[in-house]
Amino acid sequence: MGRLIDGKMISREIQDNIRKEVDSLISKGKRKPGLATLLVGDNPASQSYIRSKIRSSERAGFNSFHTSLPETASREDISDIIDRWNRDDNVDGILVQLPLPQHLIGETNEILLQIDPSKDVDGFHPVNIGNLVKGNPTFIPCTPRGIIEILKHEGIETTGKDIVVIGRSQIVGLPLAILFLLKGSFGDATVTVCHSRTRNLPEKTSRADILVAAIGKPHFVTEDMVKEGATVIDVGVNRVEDSTRERGYRLVGDVDTENVLKKVSAITPVPGGVGPMTITMLLLNTLEAYKKNITAV
Ligand code: GUN
Repeated sequence: MGRLIDGKMISREIQDNIRKEVDSLISKGKRKPGLATLLVGDNPASQSYIRSKIRSSERAGFNSFHTSLPETASREDISDIIDRWNRDDNVDGILVQLPLPQHLIGETNEILLQIDPSKDVDGFHPVNIGNLVKGNPTFIPCTPRGIIEILKHEGIETTGKDIVVIGRSQIVGLPLAILFLLKGSFGDATVTVCHSRTRNLPEKTSRADILVAAIGKPHFVTEDMVKEGATVIDVGVNRVEDSTRERGYRLVGDVDTENVLKKVSAITPVPGGVGPMTITMLLLNTLEAYKKNITAV
């Protein structure tokens, strides 16, 4: 029987340290770190993520700047806000919650391109992605960074391991696969990236020492798809109907945790695994941007 990795607890430890560092800098007369968040439209999951991001950043002692725009917002409305935050010295980090509404999805890349790369705490700007691929210091996208931090905390090395990532999204699968592939600590793995066009998926996943599921399909990874003793990282956050819950749904991952747990050595649960780490890494990226800014003046 495997064990559940407590992402909430790891997050709390890191967030406590962030808070202490912020308090110490503020006591020396520095300003607060600033995180600006933009939400366009009323996607319920995005609203919930943004609420958590704001709450956590305030708890860490940050200034939180938030703007919500209606579903009908134009590209110009968004550009104006990003421009203002790019110029604002109290804003260290800028986050545009994705996905954008349907009529703006095709413009996502142009919109992200407009964020000053030194404030791109999501690590989505092409300059930062370029640096990531080159192995240069940069903002590492929050979910991939959170997954690496979980492995570090649990003492699960990646060197020489067979790692399979299911999902090739720009936010998780792709950057994570690159990080595992890079030379050095928590890289140096043999990486396979699987996706909707992959043939014989179970044959690939069952070879993985570390299996990452980031596809957004409830209980997609089943017991027969995993290797005995593997580590499984479940990135999925899927809402499934549940009339026994007051809100009418519950959150489940991409992994059939109950059955997979019998075979593997460790697994991140949903909720309480990768999710809290994503937010914590956003705080860490913002703290790092802030420290650069306050030492630059
Ligand atoms: N949507 C899902 N995950 C993320 C994330 O990490 N950052 C942003 N901006 N949007 C997301």
